[in-house]
This record gives sequence, C-alpha cells and structure tokens, in this order.
Amino acid sequence: MKITIIGTGYVGLVTGACLAELGNNVFCLDVDQKKIDILNSGGIPIHEPGLADVVTRNRAAGRLTFSTDVAASVAHGDIQFIAVGTPPDEDGSADLQYVLAAARNIGRHMDGFKVVVDKSTVPVGTADKVRAAILEELQAREAGVTFSVVSNPEFLKEGAAVEDFMRPDRIVIGCDDTPEGQQAHALMKKLYAPFNRNHERTFWMDVRSAEFTKYAANAMLATRISFMNELANLADKVGADIEAVRHGIGSDPRIGYSFLYAGCGYGGSCFPKDVQALERTARDYGQDLLILRAVEEVNHHQKHVLGQKIVERFGENLTGRHFAVWGLAFKPNTDDMREASSRVLLRQLLERGASVAVHDPVAMAEARRVLALDFADASHMLERIRFSDSPMDALRGADALAIVTEWKAFRSPDFDQVKSLLKAPVIFDGRNLFEPDVIGAAGFEYHGIGRSV
Ligand code: NAD
Ligand code: UGA
Repeated sequence: MKITIIGTGYVGLVTGACLAELGNNVFCLDVDQKKIDILNSGGIPIHEPGLADVVTRNRAAGRLTFSTDVAASVAHGDIQFIAVGTPPDEDGSADLQYVLAAARNIGRHMDGFKVVVDKSTVPVGTADKVRAAILEELQAREAGVTFSVVSNPEFLKEGAAVEDFMRPDRIVIGCDDTPEGQQAHALMKKLYAPFNRNHERTFWMDVRSAEFTKYAANAMLATRISFMNELANLADKVGADIEAVRHGIGSDPRIGYSFLYAGCGYGGSCFPKDVQALERTARDYGQDLLILRAVEEVNHHQKHVLGQKIVERFGENLTGRHFAVWGLAFKPNTDDMREASSRVLLRQLLERGASVAVHDPVAMAEARRVLALDFADASHMLERIRFSDSPMDALRGADALAIVTEWKAFRSPDFDQVKSLLKAPVIFDGRNLFEPDVIGAAGFEYHGIGRSV
C-alpha cells in the first residue's frame, strides 16, 4: 500500500520504517530539512534500539523515502498519517497548530480519495477540526475529492519503540460510520492485517472514543506511578520497604506488576503533557479531574525528592560539595531529555552551590544541548557541571553518588571501585536499583526511594 507519514519524529519515523518493513511503500515528510538530510545520508536523528537496521534495509529496498516536498508526499499516499508534535500550550491544552498545518497541506495537495489518520496524541474532537481544515482547503480550490479522518493513536514506548510497534498489544482505530468511513475502515484493516494474523489485536470504535483511549491510557499509567511514589514517601516515614510492598500488591492479578516502580518521578515528552491536556479537556467541559491534578502535583514533588534527601544529609548550603550523577535521560535506552528528572536534581544541587560530574550512556550530547539551554542565564552554574566519559570517572572525589536513570549498565558496578573513587561511600538511588541490605553490607550508606527499613 502507498503510505505518507507527515512528521518524521519518534512516532513518524518508527511508524514509517515499520510499515515499510511490512512491504508498504512509505514516504516520510518533515519540515525539518536537517532531519531529512541526516536520514537521506544514512543517519538516524534519534537513539532508538533496532531502528537504524529497519530504516537502512527499507531505504535500500526503495520502500522508504524521506522528503520535505509536501506536494509529492501528499500525492503519494492513499493513507496519510499525521504524526507531528502536540506540545503543551501555555494553558496546558495540546497545541494543535502542527496537526492543523499538516491537515491543510493534505487539503491543498490531495487529488483523490485519502484516509487521513491522526496518529499524534490529540484531544477528543480533533478529528472534527482536521476534517474542517481539509474541507476549507478543498473548497478554496473547488476540488471535489473525498476523504475520511480516522483516529489511530500510538502506544509505543521510547527505548522499545520498534518492538512495541511490530508486536503491539492492541491497535486502536476509530472510524466514522459514513460511506467514506467504511472505505477508510477497509483500507486500515488491510494495512494492519499482518499484525492480526494469529489473533485479532484491533479494537474498532468511534473516533472520539479512540482519541479518548490514548489519554486514558497515559493518565492511568501516570496515576499508578504517582500513587506508588506517594506510598513510597510514606514507606520512608513508617519504616516499610516499597519494593516488598510492590511485590506484595503486584502479585494480585487485579493490580499486576507493571508500572508500579517508585522513583524520582516520571518524565518524557508524553505523560507530563498528556496528563495536563486531559485535565484541560475536562475543565473545558466543566469537570475538574481531581485525581489527575494530584497525579501531577505528586510528580512535581517527586522530582525534588532525591535532591531533598541530599539536602537533609548534607545541609542546605552545598557550596564546596561535589556530587556524581548517573543517568540523565528521562528513562533508559533513549537519549531523550524532555522533562527528565535529572534536570530538576541538577538545578537543586547547582543552586545550592554544589558542583556535579554527570554521566549517561547515550544522552551526553543531548544533555549538553539541553542543559546549556536550562542554564543559559546562569553560566556560573553550567560551569559547575563536568560531563564524564564513564560512570567511574564521574565518581572521582564526589561526596556521594545520585542515580536518576535505571540504565542496565548501572545495575551491578564494581562496588569496591565505586567506594574507592567516592570521597565517602554514600548513594542516593532514585530508581531503587540496589538492595539496601546488600549495599549496606558492602559498606555503603544507602538512600533509596521508600526503602528506609
Ligand atoms: P517529535 O517532536 O519527535 O516529531 C514531530 C515531527 O513533526 C518533527 O520532526 C517536526 O519537525 C515535524 N513537523 C512539525 N510540523 C510539521 C508539518 N507541518 N509537516 C511535516 N512535519 C512536521 O514528536 P513525537 O515524539 O514523534 O510525537 C508525535 C506525536 O505522537 C505527539 O502527539 C506525541 O504525543 C505522540 N506520541 C509520542 C510517543 C513517543 O514515545 N514519543 C508515543 C506515542 C505517541
Ligand atoms: C509512555 C507510555 O508508556 C507509552 O505507552 C505511550 O505511547 C507514550 O508514553 C506516549 O504516549 O508517548 P514513554 O514516555 O516512552 O511511554 O516511557 P515510559 O516507559 O512510559 O516511562 C515514562 C516515565 O515513567 C519515565 O520517566 C519512567 O522512568 C517513569 N516510570 C515508568 C516510573 O517512574 N515508574 C514505572 O513503574 C514506570
């Protein structure tokens, strides 16, 4: 089938490459010339395990084209995926300017029936806005072509995006109950048929329910995390171990083990903005989503918990103190620094006068870029960040180690070496990588999240 993907970011690139892998002929369009140039010269603009292979193979086979040519790209695909960003607006709602610009481009250049798929995470009702934008463009040039707008939200996780896309646990598709909607249904069914061979993974529904499903999923996951973080903070006070509690409750199949890890807060480009956007949608309809407000508040607080533990241990004034920080990306297996908890911790430490040595297995270049922006007005703080080539190098002479991202590479370090490099054997573990009794026996003072047993 002929597919066009508008927006070649995390979701667009993974979607395009994976659909090409299934034998489709895919055009990936982007407004960012630099990104398209990187892709056309064989590079990959993001760190995502397994993606380079899929992109290279399908480009070589002529099934995957990267372009900034709007007219040619829109003309190509019978199915047009909109996968552009939906960042938060000032009031927390999703900013739809990129989605609607993409819709207008489709309307301006389409010359026959098209299925327009909202793949971006968009508030309920956006398909109507996309339809109106396309119609306006068609009417302006008196083009008598038809189309249907479909909602097909994406559930992939960064760091496991290719695997998640190729082996989805569900495919959610919302179609209109109109003749065009039925045409769209047939094309989408054909496109996703390879995923449904062994058992049907597609949930067909109306467009609004599909749009809502995406926010409900992210809000539910964020809620679990914030709830566990609140319990962890209480566990610290009452002398219980949140990890034991996690096992104890996760074994109930009604609760389950996934997404019950307490830590130093959730980050990334999605949970923070999607929780806010759903709250905003509710407010627009006169409803206050009390639980989600709390989820956000708890997460804001949680990003400060590691820094607070350091302050409780070393005092408010950290001038002359030096800390090692392992992990900068918002989660492992990505170089994405959006809303990363590391950025909050670094600000807490630097504002109190400390210096830091930081290391991340893949996010160093992105961290340099993002931190330079974070501290653009505070070069005296930026100067106190040393970027270390290895985790061990970061430890040299540090008063303590703080762990922010649970990279596998940090899970079983040579503890003797860690001890010998640190000034004092103190660890603040924001992701509960270690067992308190084991690490205590190894001679460390250990501060986890919710593990003060
Ligand atoms: P991204 O910022 O990585 O990529 C968006 C791309 O769209 C950029 O390359 C940008 O240059 C391009 N773009 C903007 N306007 C354009 C236009 N008019 N025409 C062509 N290209 C245009 O964003 P992302 O992380 O891929 O997220 C995209 C959407 O998918 C968001 O709504 C997000 O919430 C959702 N989502 C993201 C993930 C994830 O893990 N990143 C997972 C599921 C859903
Ligand atoms: C999340 C969802 O998991 C995806 O299903 C969804 O498609 C995506 O958002 C999106 O809409 O873009 P992602 O943000 O890539 O994916 O990463 P997650 O693995 O969900 O982690 C998000 C944050 O939660 C990370 O900071 C992680 O450290 C934190 N987290 C996760 C916890 O603190 N505890 C947990 O138990 C799980």
